[in-house]
Amino acid sequence: MTCRVVVLLSGRGSNFRAIAEAHLPIEIVAVISNRPQAAGLDYARQRGIQTVALDHTQHTDREAFDELLADEIERHRPDLVVLAGYMRILGTAFIARFADRLLNIHPSLLPMFPGLNTHERALEEGVKIHGCTVHFVTPQLDHGPIVIQAAVPVRGDDTPDTLAARVLAQEHRIYPQAVRWFAEGRLVKNHGRVNLRDDPASQSVLFPGA
Ligand code: GRF
Repeated sequence: MTCRVVVLLSGRGSNFRAIAEAHLPIEIVAVISNRPQAAGLDYARQRGIQTVALDHTQHTDREAFDELLADEIERHRPDLVVLAGYMRILGTAFIARFADRLLNIHPSLLPMFPGLNTHERALEEGVKIHGCTVHFVTPQLDHGPIVIQAAVPVRGDDTPDTLAARVLAQEHRIYPQAVRWFAEGRLVKNHGRVNLRDDPASQSVLFPGA
């Protein structure tokens, strides 16, 4: 049975695109955006994928919006919900509804630098290694069980933009990989950690190479 995936995004959608083009054993059944102008929606339409725009600015009550969004997602009967640059915080009720089938990508090596402006903060701190993380979503922001990470070097002459570009190239590798593992039923959660079925050392989960 093909894994049915709903993608949530707010902007350019390059991670969505990487997933869509990776020949995964999935069907992307809908792409939903809280911003009607998101470029990611245009790409979805080009590929003939159903799109839905739910404009959050039309809703003042955050919980009511979350519920509307959750109802819309469920209409598409997803096995997996992929947050791909979805730039709104989701409430605990929403997260509970999709627990265990909700993945996010974050542009840092979590648990370092949760939240926004990760590349600026990495440069300010002078870290020598930076990267990105795919994780299951839990109510604590940017904190759920880690599925896969990729590391990149930080160079002395990096700007937030050059560092972001280096990290983004790795995001496009690890997110499709994580979705593939999910679709293949290979992600096993154990006390808040994720192991890869049939790979006892789970080496590949940690560092796919930068
Ligand atoms: C990525 O850097 C992702 O890690 C973060 O938001 C950005 C989305 O980029 N959550 P895109 O829309 O996938 O191009």
